[in-house]
Amino acid sequence: MSAPVEIYEGAIDKGLEGVVACTTGISSIVDATLCFRGYTIEDIAAKSTFEEVIYLLWNDKLPNKDELKQFRKELLAEMTLAPDLVKHLQGLPTQNVHPMAWLRTAVSSLALWDQDSQKLDVENQRRIGKRLVAKMGPLVALFERTRKGQPFVPANPEKSIAWNFLHMLFGKEPDADIVHIFDVCLILHADHELNCSAFSARVTASSLSDIYSDITSAIGTLKGPLHGGANEQVMLMLKKIGSVDAAKKWIENALANKEKVMGFGHRVYKNGDPRAKILRKMSEEITKKIGEPHWYQMSAMIDDTVQREKGLLPNVDFYSATVYYSMGIPTDLFTPIFAVSRVSGWLAHVFEQYGNNRIYRPRGKWVGKQGLKYP
Ligand code: COA
Repeated sequence: MSAPVEIYEGAIDKGLEGVVACTTGISSIVDATLCFRGYTIEDIAAKSTFEEVIYLLWNDKLPNKDELKQFRKELLAEMTLAPDLVKHLQGLPTQNVHPMAWLRTAVSSLALWDQDSQKLDVENQRRIGKRLVAKMGPLVALFERTRKGQPFVPANPEKSIAWNFLHMLFGKEPDADIVHIFDVCLILHADHELNCSAFSARVTASSLSDIYSDITSAIGTLKGPLHGGANEQVMLMLKKIGSVDAAKKWIENALANKEKVMGFGHRVYKNGDPRAKILRKMSEEITKKIGEPHWYQMSAMIDDTVQREKGLLPNVDFYSATVYYSMGIPTDLFTPIFAVSRVSGWLAHVFEQYGNNRIYRPRGKWVGKQGLKYP
């Protein structure tokens, strides 16, 4: 039997590093600068709201007052979950269940409550997009309340996605400062160029599958500890370390044992993640506000140690862990919260993909056995 034809000289086994897989106009990373549609993340985090950022990501422009008003109205109306959908979701197992596995199933179920789930015309894409981005927070809150045996809190379409998430999760009026901090967190996580889950959503969209399938794929990808799962691992690590005094030694040992320290390193940023800088400040402020500054102090000590010993800088997941923890959010909901925000970026990516599509179909370089005789 002849050897398979050699198609490519070098196969890219190691995570497609440096490969440009498509053109995109949604977010860009140049050195340590992240922009959404041309605006720096620092500017957007300081001046925008999450709803405005969704509009920007999807429309390639900031909305004027009327456009934002109309968009918010249509978007926030979609936060409602129909009673029979709630009943169905309340029937799913929640004990000893990974919240991202539950969320993946819940988002997939949403398609069954949408008669037009398979239609891919632009108007329908946007309708489904609003439905998904608005419902993600209510779904995560429903999961949390169901597993605690608490009743579902309905959405208030007069209020923002951030306000509603905290209200639906805790069942009481949220503190205005905390709503603002959470809104900034949603903005910071909204999109990030061709990250693993956005790529996964685009690959599914490229087969002209439906949007619910695209977003379900992305949730499965975000779940992994090398991607969205890192923020939860950071908090578990901080709890394991226990005190500021123990932090330096603990990290030095971990690095000596070649362990990966969650929340550090990045495939693209080699000179620091701009989102981590914003979150570091937020972590310092909020841990002080709740009277538990040691979480920030421990994080800062780890940050210094990892930088000194390994030359690695924190990524978005490192300081977001203590920010979410300080809000009283359960640790295993950190990654679902990432999805509450990132779904806006995934949708921008699938809209872009549908608008200029060709199916993703790379090749694999053959390194297996060949010429075997069937016995
Ligand atoms: N802790 C300790 N060492 C790390 C590290 C970390 N968090 N991240 C990378 N390194 C080391 C690697 O072990 C490797 O060292 P080596 O050359 O001696 O083998 C080197 O730095 C290069 O790392 P590599 O794993 O090749 O980087 P990558 O581009 O493939 O992966 C991440 C990028 C983000 C997946 C990786 O840095 C990581 O696993 N970080 C922890 C998980 C995390 O925080 N993910 C969230 C990303 S936003």
